[in-house]
Amino acid sequence: MSVMVDELLSAIGPDLVEFERRLEESVAADGPLADAMEHIVRAGGKRFRPALVLLAAALGTPDRDQAFNLAMGIEFIHTATLVHDDLIDNASTRRGITTIHETVGVNPAIIIGDYYFAKGANLMASIGEPSIDLAISNTVMTICLGELLQLTSRRDYDQTLEEYHNKIARKTAALVETCCYCGAVVANLDARRTEALRQYGFYIGMAFQIADDVLDYTSTAEELGKPVGADLRQGTVTLPLMLALQEPLVAPALRALFAHEPMTDADHEEVVRLVCGSSAIEQADAQARDFAVRARAQLAAFDDSPSRDTLERVCDYVVERRT
Ligand code: IPE
Ligand code: IPE
Ligand code: MG
Ligand code: MG
Repeated sequence: MSVMVDELLSAIGPDLVEFERRLEESVAADGPLADAMEHIVRAGGKRFRPALVLLAAALGTPDRDQAFNLAMGIEFIHTATLVHDDLIDNASTRRGITTIHETVGVNPAIIIGDYYFAKGANLMASIGEPSIDLAISNTVMTICLGELLQLTSRRDYDQTLEEYHNKIARKTAALVETCCYCGAVVANLDARRTEALRQYGFYIGMAFQIADDVLDYTSTAEELGKPVGADLRQGTVTLPLMLALQEPLVAPALRALFAHEPMTDADHEEVVRLVCGSSAIEQADAQARDFAVRARAQLAAFDDSPSRDTLERVCDYVVERRT
């Protein structure tokens, strides 16, 4: 795992290097709480959200410290959601290393997650812009609702596409939207451009999560640095499975496997094989591309610039990414 595609982000390359420096410095100051977090921060991650913050901010005239505090705050909040998500999902690896709850235990992982939610909010509050504080607190509430909906809809194989979209909007797209919205705020963009960027972020977030859900079926643990097939094992019903269940030639075999109590590892492998052998992956990819097209359309509000160009290429990256 490494920092997100260097070539794609060359327009803000030096800023991303400075971001890493500040992020590590900030974690190192956390005393006894820092140890576990230092590992996960150093293990990388794509830094997709801070990159979006910095790209959005670069469309205007941000104060440099404010843009970095915003990017760090959002990355800390994102990382906190992962610490708690992995605990809830009982996941063993993240970013190629052992998860925090497995390394230091469940209770410390809860505390570390809480700490980094608050630390992220604290960094963002230091900007002194109420609209940013309103956006991020609202977003964390929305993520919690998304995670709860995911929990209570486990093994519900008949949920609708609308329910699925609602869930991923909350658990993932809301934060990506907030990256772009808050980036626009620190950049002092006018209301029309701020709104265009906010919507761009929402659609990118939807495409990003659909790609994540596809990769959970099609990728490998080595490539992703986290377990694959995890959604299915946890009973999390995602788009590839939902679309495969709409195929008359595949659905009966899937339903027969779901009737097993409990499902075995071999059953799970068979479900993955059936889903990957259906047209569900192709259709899910097409849905991700649709969201990326909607994101791209929002960029019409901006004149040509290196960061606009990069935001445009992010629309391709988000559906083509392999990690
Ligand atoms: C993981 O996010 C959670 C999802 C919303 C899919 P990322 O895929 O951005 O994770 P890192 O930060 O690169 O590890
Ligand atoms: C995570 O979605 C969204 C969060 C709010 C953390 P996933 O559950 O698909 O993320 P991964 O696959 O564990 O990274
Ligand atoms: Mg998860
Ligand atoms: Mg996932």
